[in-house]
Amino acid sequence: MVEERKISSAVVNRLPRYYRYLGELLESGTDRISSKELSEKMNITASQIRQDLNNFGGFGQQGYGYNVEYLYNEIKKILGIDKPYNIIVVGGGNIGQALVNYTNFEKRGFIIKAVFDINPRLIGMTIRGVEVRDVDKMEEFIKNNNIDVAILTLPKAQAVETANNLAEWGIKGIWNFSPVDLDVPKGVSVENVHLTDSLMTLIYKINDISTK
Ligand code: NAI
Repeated sequence: MVEERKISSAVVNRLPRYYRYLGELLESGTDRISSKELSEKMNITASQIRQDLNNFGGFGQQGYGYNVEYLYNEIKKILGIDKPYNIIVVGGGNIGQALVNYTNFEKRGFIIKAVFDINPRLIGMTIRGVEVRDVDKMEEFIKNNNIDVAILTLPKAQAVETANNLAEWGIKGIWNFSPVDLDVPKGVSVENVHLTDSLMTLIYKINDISTK
């Protein structure tokens, strides 16, 4: 088992990508891989890979490379995805519904238990088997169903107040799609997903003559 110590957020941000690549290698029956081969596949320098992976115990062996399955399982434990998580979606509109319709979350152990909305036309509907419930019932549901994470897909104006309520009701993490910065109490983690930011970065690259 890897010793417990603080891993920098830059490394943590790269771990899901390592995990994904290692999962693909496992599926293709690859037992071990050198940092050089992994580097070519992932387009990260071999020294960066060695540095990242040494961070939590150094699983590589000179002349042998990394044991793919071992590394995959260790990263899984480090990320904490070696157990399932109960999730709710708050805001059952376009984005909320699209996320519930995405089947791969379950394969990773992210279980969407319910969607909450205020719109009476949506309440009672099911999206891929997941019921849309009245937001008035959200506190009770969170407390009775061991919900860890809330996906926030609300209009901007409703997001801040709802996030504060979610924190108070015991939610540990908010995956925030609403275009607003949340200021939640310590102990609650927020990860923002802003697709337009990513698109703007792409547009910058298109226009950046220094890369041409
Ligand atoms: P939408 O209008 O289709 O869905 C919002 C849903 O929230 C509606 O069903 C509405 O009834 C519900 N709602 C409103 N107030 C509520 C409350 N207090 N409690 C529970 N439900 C409530 O909007 P859409 O397109 O799904 O976008 C949702 C949010 O995501 C918006 O803030 C939008 O700006 C943002 N967004 C973010 C993106 C990203 O990359 N992060 C991309 C696209 C949209």
